[in-house]
Amino acid sequence: MQIDVLTLFPAMFEGPMTESMLWKARDRNLLDLRLHDIRDYALDKHKSADDIPYGGGGGMIMKAEPVALAVEAALAGAPAGTPVILMTPQGRVFSHDIAKELAQHEQIIMVCGRYEGIDDRVRQLIATDELSIGDYVLTGGELPAMVIIDAVIRHIPGVLGAEGAADADSHADGILEGPHFTRPPEWRGVSVPQVLQDGDHAKVAKWRREQGLRRTWQQRPDLLMTAELTEDERYLLATFANEDAGKNPHP
Ligand code: ADE
Repeated sequence: MQIDVLTLFPAMFEGPMTESMLWKARDRNLLDLRLHDIRDYALDKHKSADDIPYGGGGGMIMKAEPVALAVEAALAGAPAGTPVILMTPQGRVFSHDIAKELAQHEQIIMVCGRYEGIDDRVRQLIATDELSIGDYVLTGGELPAMVIIDAVIRHIPGVLGAEGAADADSHADGILEGPHFTRPPEWRGVSVPQVLQDGDHAKVAKWRREQGLRRTWQQRPDLLMTAELTEDERYLLATFANEDAGKNPHP
């Protein structure tokens, strides 16, 4: 998969994109990451990529032309339908499902905004999508782009150790993952649950699903509104609810 990132600060990507999984993906040619410095596409002699806003107000706005030229350079030879994604706190909120969908593309282009944002004509004429990583405002789109790249490449076959492991992640089916343990079997008085130590695969799978459900009920009950659950799982949820109802909050 090819990911083109358009940014005024390509050096920000150096550390995160050269370590761990991301480096492994690049090293195995599963990810072809191309960084484009938007300033290289600024045509005036000062190479200015930003300007003051029409109508006044503080801050600077990224100019449309350098961004457009950088996108067009990245799109040269790209397959039809290649997404051009603006990183913006006004976009749709990124999720596991969007990560999975983006991983199906041969190429994606990500545009990182800075300052007060990008001239809106880039959004109107060039972007095909706008993504936010959450309801808060960062100083630029670079960190969101890195977050999204990390989440997307986990869905490229061969990037993770066990094939399909991303399908077992928290959020893969609307349910969080249960707890994990490693050796020693007892640490500071807390034992690893016996079912995991016994290693009966069917029992372990059932236990993990139950723990995932319990965790979702405790931490993110909102997810349960849309999760696909079996009859047994619905019954289990009802027992969690009954357990909680029986607890005295003011003992
Ligand atoms: N740029 C600034 N804040 C952002 C956010 N929350 N998501 C994506 N891009 C951003």
